[in-house]
Amino acid sequence: MRRVAWGITGGGQHLAESVEAMRKVAALHSVCTFVSRAGEEVLRMYGLLDRLHEISRGSYLEEVFLESESGSSFPMTGRLMLGRFDMLLIAPATSNTVAKIACGIADTIVTNAAALAEKAEVPVLVLPTDVREAVTRAPYAVNRELCEACEICPPQKACPRGAISGDEIRSIDLMLCDGCGTCLPLCSTGAIDAVRMNVRRRSIDIRNIEILRERGYVILESPEEIPVAVERVKINRGMQRTE
Ligand SMILES: Cc1cc2nc3c(=O)[nH]c(=O)nc-3n(C[C@H](O)[C@H](O)[C@H](O)COP(=O)(O)O)c2cc1C
Repeated sequence: MRRVAWGITGGGQHLAESVEAMRKVAALHSVCTFVSRAGEEVLRMYGLLDRLHEISRGSYLEEVFLESESGSSFPMTGRLMLGRFDMLLIAPATSNTVAKIACGIADTIVTNAAALAEKAEVPVLVLPTDVREAVTRAPYAVNRELCEACEICPPQKACPRGAISGDEIRSIDLMLCDGCGTCLPLCSTGAIDAVRMNVRRRSIDIRNIEILRERGYVILESPEEIPVAVERVKINRGMQRTE
């Protein structure tokens, strides 16, 4: 069994597919999850936050560590220095996280895990959200051109999180929305939707990904590569500690 530390950052791109890939990996190996603050928010917006506990079920090395509950020094990432994990996989990795790692910044639970993994020579695999140009799905939102501000708004009444508000044009508070989609079929004008958008790559993101590659990080091009990439990592369980 391989011991995988999985870092999740606040990227919508590749998110659902990464969670699916990790479900497959967790059927064979132990997966311990480290989630950045933005990662927690974005997972919730896409209705994926609860899935983490199906992948990391809570026993030792299968926990979920949320940055929002981990203070500022992230004691649990120290396990990477102690040889508790065979690899760190960051999927998806936002351009923010990739840039921080490229610069050696370690101030989030995921960038901190990357810094410690690199120091301890634990292999790091990264799936950057901006590894290639792609179409991404945004969270649910109200299309203002279609909303007719009905006196009684069924989606507003039915939303289990009370995330839809407004007396005239309605809007969805994404900090409350958990992406359940209850609202979607209830709007008679079809004003609630998850738009798809083209994401262009900035040259700075391309450069930062190359910096990681030069430092020995394995750069993945798609979530579908994750299960095979996890199997390919060369395992080294030598002692990390010195007297
Ligand atoms: C719905 C949503 C989707 C996002 N998707 C991406 C993305 O695909 N790639 C990216 O670089 N940032 C994305 N962001 C922005 C990041 O969440 C933001 O830059 C955050 O500060 C990243 O923090 P982290 O790298 O510590 O997780 C998204 C934000 C939201 C609200």
